[in-house]
Amino acid sequence: MLSSPSSDKNKFPILEVLKTFIEPDKHPKTKIKSILELASGSGVHVSFFAQHFPNVHFQPSEIEPKNMESIKAYIDNYELTSTVRDPIVIDLSCPEKCDVIKEIDMVYASNFTHISPVKCTYGAFDIASRMLKPESWFLIYGPFSIDGEISPESNLNFDKHLRNQNSEWGYRDTSQLKEIAENNGFSFDQRIAMPSNNWILAFRKI
Ligand SMILES: C[S@@+](CC[C@H](N)C(=O)[O-])C[C@H]1O[C@@H](n2cnc3c(N)ncnc32)[C@H](O)[C@@H]1O
Repeated sequence: MLSSPSSDKNKFPILEVLKTFIEPDKHPKTKIKSILELASGSGVHVSFFAQHFPNVHFQPSEIEPKNMESIKAYIDNYELTSTVRDPIVIDLSCPEKCDVIKEIDMVYASNFTHISPVKCTYGAFDIASRMLKPESWFLIYGPFSIDGEISPESNLNFDKHLRNQNSEWGYRDTSQLKEIAENNGFSFDQRIAMPSNNWILAFRKI
C-alpha cells in the first residue's frame, strides 16, 4: 500500500463535504448509490470514503500500474471488496477510450488538475459528462487560481514550481474550469473553501 501523507490529511475535511452531497436528506433528488473516482492515486481516499459510506459503491480509476496495485491493496486491507470495485484504467488524456459505466451517480476527482496537462481536465469533464445523468454532481478538489488570482504566496510559488517542472502543469483558473464545464453540459454550482487554501468545486450536470 503506497503511503500518501497529504491524502491522509485532507481525507477528513473532504469526507465532511462529501457527506453534505451524499446524505439523502441534503439532496433528496439525487440519491447517490455509485461513485466514480478519477485519478484515484494510492487508494487512500477511496478506501477511507468507502468505510464511511457503506451503502455506496465506488469505482476507482488510475493510469499508473503501481497505483492500481496500491488501490487493490487498500481494498483488501480494509475488506472493502463488497463495495469498492477493482480499479480500472481511465486515462484522462484519452477520454474517447473510456467506455461509459452504467449507473454512476457522482464523479469525484482530487488533486489532478494542476499536475497534469490541461487536456486531462478537458478529458475529466468529457468522461463525467458521458457518465452522469442530469442533476448529478461532479466534484473536484484541489488548489486553483480563483478568477485570475492565486493566493497566498505559498500557492503562487507552488504554481511557479509546477510550471518550471512541466510547462503543461499549473493551477487551473476557475473561469477556465467553468467554461470547460459549460461546454460539457455542466453548470458551476459552488466553491467550498477547504484547509490549506484548497477548494472543492461542485459542478452539476444540466
Ligand atoms: C497528486 S495525485 C492525486 C491522487 C489522489 N486523487 C489523491 O488526491 O490522493 C495525481 C494522480 O493523477 C494521476 N494522473 C496523472 N495523469 C493522469 C491521466 N492522464 N489520467 C488519469 N490519471 C492521471 C496520477 O497517476 C496520480 O495518481
